[in-house]
Amino acid sequence: MSCRAVIFDLDGVLTDTAIYHFYAWKALADELGINFTEHDNEQLKGVDRLGSLRWILQKGGLTLSEAEEARLMQQKNAHYLELIDHITPDNLYPGVTALFTQLKRHGIKIGLASASKNAAFVVERLGIAAQFDYIADANQVLNSKPDPEVFLLAAKGLAVAPQYCIGVEDALAGIEAINRAGMKAIGIGDAKVLSGAIRVYPAVKAITLEELLSV
Ligand code: BG6
Ligand code: MG
Repeated sequence: MSCRAVIFDLDGVLTDTAIYHFYAWKALADELGINFTEHDNEQLKGVDRLGSLRWILQKGGLTLSEAEEARLMQQKNAHYLELIDHITPDNLYPGVTALFTQLKRHGIKIGLASASKNAAFVVERLGIAAQFDYIADANQVLNSKPDPEVFLLAAKGLAVAPQYCIGVEDALAGIEAINRAGMKAIGIGDAKVLSGAIRVYPAVKAITLEELLSV
């Protein structure tokens, strides 16, 4: 495969926002009297807002009206936005800027495929919005990861066929989405958890251009 584009997930890949999503869901679950652990949260990485809420409610055996769900999602999001209010370019994970520079030097396009409706805000605050050749996020798709839609939209926006794209993800749902899109999946995190990835690195800074080009 000759790589022509690398499409990155945002939360937990380029920056540490995954932990703030967890804190905000945990606070909501506590309020509802539902036990929600970091282990549970692994299942929710990459899952959109409504899907995450419903997973937690189901764990607690609760079924709520759509209006009540909307209120709880709004509450979680307000808390999440408060938690990420301080983020600056310093919150970008080490190695991201260097990798982006190398990719650009080799003429490889850079895309974003995020399940978050806050993705544009976060990349703006991280100071990297202008680095992307195309940004696809939850505001533009109907089907959440593990559906491949957001990765396919990014590839289309980049004008690169999926088989020439590599996707980079920290979430199980995201790795599945990349594989279903017909792309090569690189995992960030634990190789035992992200078993569907062809390679797993502990962090973006461990990715080398040579290895990406040899995928
Ligand atoms: C994903 C995160 O990127 O976005 C999930 O991994 C999060 O944890 C999801 O729930 C939706 O984010 P938002 O910002 O639209 O609520
Ligand atoms: Mg993620």
